[in-house]
Amino acid sequence: MMFSLAIASAPGWTAIFLLFATLCALFSPAVMVKHENFKKCDQSGFCKRNRLYADTAAAASSWTAPYSLDPTSIKFNDGQLSGVILKSLGGGQEHVKLPLTVTFLESGVARVTLDEEKRQKGDIALRGDSKARKERYNEAGSWALVGGLEVAKGAALSEKVEKGYTKVYYGQGGRHEAVIRHDPFSVDFKRDGETQVRFNERGLLNMEHWRPKIEKPVEEKQEGEEQKEEDEQKKEDEDEQEKKIEEPKGEDETTWWDESFGGNTDSKPRGPEAVALDISFPGYEHVFGIPEHATGLSLKTTRGGEGNYNEPYRLYNADVFEYEIDSPMTLYGSIPLMQAHRKGSTVGVFWMNAAETWVDVVKSKATANPLSLGVKGHTDTQTHWISESGLLDVFVFLGPTPQDLTRQYGELTGFTAMPQSFAIAYHQCRWNYVTDTDVMDIDRKFDKFKIPYDVIWLDIEYTHEKKYFTWDPLAFVNPKKMHKHLGKRGRKLVAIIDPHIKNTDNYPVVDEMKKKDLAVKNKDGNQYEGWCWPGSSYWVDCFNPAAITWWKGLFKYDSFKGTAPNTFIWNDMNEPSVFNGPETTMPKDNLHFGNWEHRDVHNLNGMTFHNATYEALLERKKGEIRRPFVLTRSFYSGSQRIGAMWTGDNLAEWSHLEASLPMVLNQGISGFPFAGADVGGFFGNPSKELLTRWYQAGIYYPFFRGHAHIDTRRREPYVPGPPYTGIITQALRLRYQLLPAWYTAFHEAATTGAPIVRPNFYIHPEDEKGFAVDDQLYIGSTGLLAKPVTKEGADSVSIYIADSQPYYDYFDYTLYQGPGHHTVPAPLEKIPLLMQGGHIIPRRDRPRRSSGLMKFDPFTLVIVLDNAGNAEGSIYVDDGETFDYKLGAYIHRRFSFDGGRNALTSVNVGTKGPKTDAYLKTMTKVRVEKVIIVSAPKEWKGKKEVVVSEEGAKESARRKKVAFSYHEGSGKTAAWAVVRDPKVGIGKGWKIDFS
Ligand code: GLC
Repeated sequence: MMFSLAIASAPGWTAIFLLFATLCALFSPAVMVKHENFKKCDQSGFCKRNRLYADTAAAASSWTAPYSLDPTSIKFNDGQLSGVILKSLGGGQEHVKLPLTVTFLESGVARVTLDEEKRQKGDIALRGDSKARKERYNEAGSWALVGGLEVAKGAALSEKVEKGYTKVYYGQGGRHEAVIRHDPFSVDFKRDGETQVRFNERGLLNMEHWRPKIEKPVEEKQEGEEQKEEDEQKKEDEDEQEKKIEEPKGEDETTWWDESFGGNTDSKPRGPEAVALDISFPGYEHVFGIPEHATGLSLKTTRGGEGNYNEPYRLYNADVFEYEIDSPMTLYGSIPLMQAHRKGSTVGVFWMNAAETWVDVVKSKATANPLSLGVKGHTDTQTHWISESGLLDVFVFLGPTPQDLTRQYGELTGFTAMPQSFAIAYHQCRWNYVTDTDVMDIDRKFDKFKIPYDVIWLDIEYTHEKKYFTWDPLAFVNPKKMHKHLGKRGRKLVAIIDPHIKNTDNYPVVDEMKKKDLAVKNKDGNQYEGWCWPGSSYWVDCFNPAAITWWKGLFKYDSFKGTAPNTFIWNDMNEPSVFNGPETTMPKDNLHFGNWEHRDVHNLNGMTFHNATYEALLERKKGEIRRPFVLTRSFYSGSQRIGAMWTGDNLAEWSHLEASLPMVLNQGISGFPFAGADVGGFFGNPSKELLTRWYQAGIYYPFFRGHAHIDTRRREPYVPGPPYTGIITQALRLRYQLLPAWYTAFHEAATTGAPIVRPNFYIHPEDEKGFAVDDQLYIGSTGLLAKPVTKEGADSVSIYIADSQPYYDYFDYTLYQGPGHHTVPAPLEKIPLLMQGGHIIPRRDRPRRSSGLMKFDPFTLVIVLDNAGNAEGSIYVDDGETFDYKLGAYIHRRFSFDGGRNALTSVNVGTKGPKTDAYLKTMTKVRVEKVIIVSAPKEWKGKKEVVVSEEGAKESARRKKVAFSYHEGSGKTAAWAVVRDPKVGIGKGWKIDFS
């Protein structure tokens, strides 16, 4: 309308232009998430009920939570407390029994599990002819947990008895205490006497107990009456939508027995069964975690107010393509781990439930009381967790550091798998490279333009009519030749395999799956059929061990013909995405192995499929054991053990580039750090500037892949031309140069659970001003601090420095020092990257075409001195391929520069194993070819040599002299020095003496 008025009144060319613009606006597809496809809390019965419950509790003048722990039931044995919580109904007339266990773990973590006796005993009646299991789902732990469950021998009941309470001391030196109040039930988790985490403070614990449906008698209807009723019902529904009639007080039963959304009705054979609890973090203003959402790192409140959300954060894995940013909407994966952080303390909870879950976050400020001197104002964060079904099973972490938290969570759910070295290099993907010759052509072009890359990807079009494990016979005529071609430079191919199996004739895969009865079932127990890329499809049920066994067979080289040892796999659409299903996924009353309803296991589904593929890659050929690489879109706690993830279908917009940084950081602190976003943006065509900036940011994603939608123009790094191609190439080379630092960071993640890229608060947990900083990142423990440009036209960035150590520009050693913001120039060709004083950074400086070709290249060490003139760092190297590192086939060294002694040393921090010596032998010739010292002391001026000694060297070479040069700084640029080719082995002990 506005456009047509403007056109009518505009002269000549302007009018034509406006007309053109109008037509473009009309015909270019609106790229926006389809909100109507996904539920809001008040469209999800159990969420609405529990929010209403919270509102009712908050509004009541006195609210007595109806849950109490029966004191006569309490037992404490070997670090475990058990008892029965009574839920009182009808004002205490009746009680529902809820068995409780609180387990105190050796690691200082506590676990609270609550079940429902009747369901546990199977003492309920399912509605209809349902074949579903009767219990609350109790197998999430068998997928998510791998360790850390040793019970604390030292946990003990408090000797002081206080009526109405049970207290247990646990954790190292008994520093932790759980104070369990009986009536109403609540638990305070204390560290050193101070409450850190509080369960049921607001009395929102709610376990919807089993009850039979009271069927209303059905009256006989006259002809025509049914239609009339339907019409009336429709009108009522519409009226309700419009007027948003206020819910009757008390329980809202409308969605207890079935629930419809988007034309799909969920039969709920077990009736209402939600489980909810409020968890408070007193004194904590910041909470992080619960990925995956396109939000900032520090979570917002969800009950309205300016700049806040009105909806809870939702965890219900879904194919939300064209997702919007700054939204609590659910995305493809879920990790129900939340951590709360304040100065001096990090604590957290892991809500181990795989059903649809919503989390409300509220913050309340307590202002300083002017009368009570010394009492400072503080903020409390209160959260409310609501899951549709399953157990209440929550782990409580009391930190006190962010490192403790990631380690303890990792001990439970596993650390990131150590990937093959190619997997952390650059991946080139698009939907789709169309033929095998296209693939080889792309490969040649990368070489022609001297752009490094390691992996090329094939999306769904490589298959023959979307039948996985087949090749399009016309387009991919000779996959073997294509693999061989790639293998010449040590490159790999990743092919997509999705979980939907085409329902068609003459496709042995679907025939076998059906015959062996390995597909997910519908509520009637028949194999469930739905729609996805191939059209009509069935879904393999990877909860079923027999399905995993079968799936493994499909990847053997003689089964998936045309694949080779350099083929790896991409698992997509595993939420699962079902185009004609409710919320683009499976009906909740579908059945999985063991007759668990899909409702119970939905958020685990993606991980089970990913897991089956991981297992398959381990067994492609007898005797050939390589670390698998499988990318997944959907994930849950534990997925980090089996591969990498990416953030799904983003847009080629600046805002999405910006949003990718907090998302990747959040994955890191939530235990699944091998993460990245589609570089360039999936939907739409990025401008050349955006593409370039995205590459400059993407080199800091642990998982680094360029990808694009089928409707977009080609955009491989050589496409945009000068100066962009050159600038992108420089960015890629920087990633490759720093691969040794990245690999070391991955090793740290794989052994300690620490994130690979780290937010400010993780490195500087005491720096209150920096807690919410989420647009810059540290790489592992290297001290490298990157601040990618995410704004169009920017020529500088403002980097936040938390401490008073010196920070130097990576390229020209300009000094930035002092807490606060610093402006760092960032014209298009410049990547803002600083080095924090106090670190030693390993890298490889020879530009190569793939990481495989760098395997035996020499190393450069960059020593960045801190205020006291010292620096420390480490390197981890192994064969980058096999599992031999588990038998000691690796190099792990600590480098220290001691300013007092004026010496740099390399010491072994590895543990010898049966394969150590053999591995070291393969690396004897790999040396350090250069040592750069940034902010070199002035006393070194004029020095021409340094003395190098190496363990095991021949007498003549024991104290050899090596060339040294000193370069004076100027203005803000630091002085630097270079030791040229000390020829010391990377796997050896050595010392360089600068005195
Ligand atoms: C999904 C994926 C995307 C992929 C496409 C076709 O949208 O998220 O990455 O290219 O499916 O397989």
